Amino acid sequence: MALERTLSIIKPDAVAKNVIGEIYTRFEKAGLKVVASKMKQLSKQEAEGFYAVHRERPFFNALVEFMISGPVMIQVLEGEGAVLKNRDLMGATNPKDAAPGTIRADFADSIDANAVHGSDSLENAAIEVAYFFPATDVYAR
Ligand code: PPS
Repeated sequence: MALERTLSIIKPDAVAKNVIGEIYTRFEKAGLKVVASKMKQLSKQEAEGFYAVHRERPFFNALVEFMISGPVMIQVLEGEGAVLKNRDLMGATNPKDAAPGTIRADFADSIDANAVHGSDSLENAAIEVAYFFPATDVYAR
């Protein structure tokens, strides 16, 4: 499997629950390294830009409002097959469908407040990493 990088966001609900450390532990135990990291209060414009692909979806406005409701923790994860590995750790979008032991099963309350975001493809991962981090802020480890 190839060494990959993916973008992960711990959303405002999980930051408010004080489970950043527990989620980072899951990444590390799965062999993913944090190679960039920052806490950030997203502006409306930043959240709308990040989720632009979903602009026509009925939940778009609610998603943007939720993502700016408090600070988020944004990180780049690196490892073998990092994109899929992170998606597996996250679990299904709707926590009701998320497998036991996944981040969303354990920490998410609803499909709207679902604890984490993870890039869904290697191509999107590159776009999303660049959206939040200049190349000089991502560290080879
Ligand atoms: S889809 O249908 O495959 O495009 O959906 P998905 O990529 O899994 O989710 C799109 C993002 O919107 C967030 N979100 C919702 N999705 C579906 N329904 C509702 N009601 C909803 N509310 C919010 C969902 O969590 C995805 O966000 P990210 O940050 O990518 O996880």
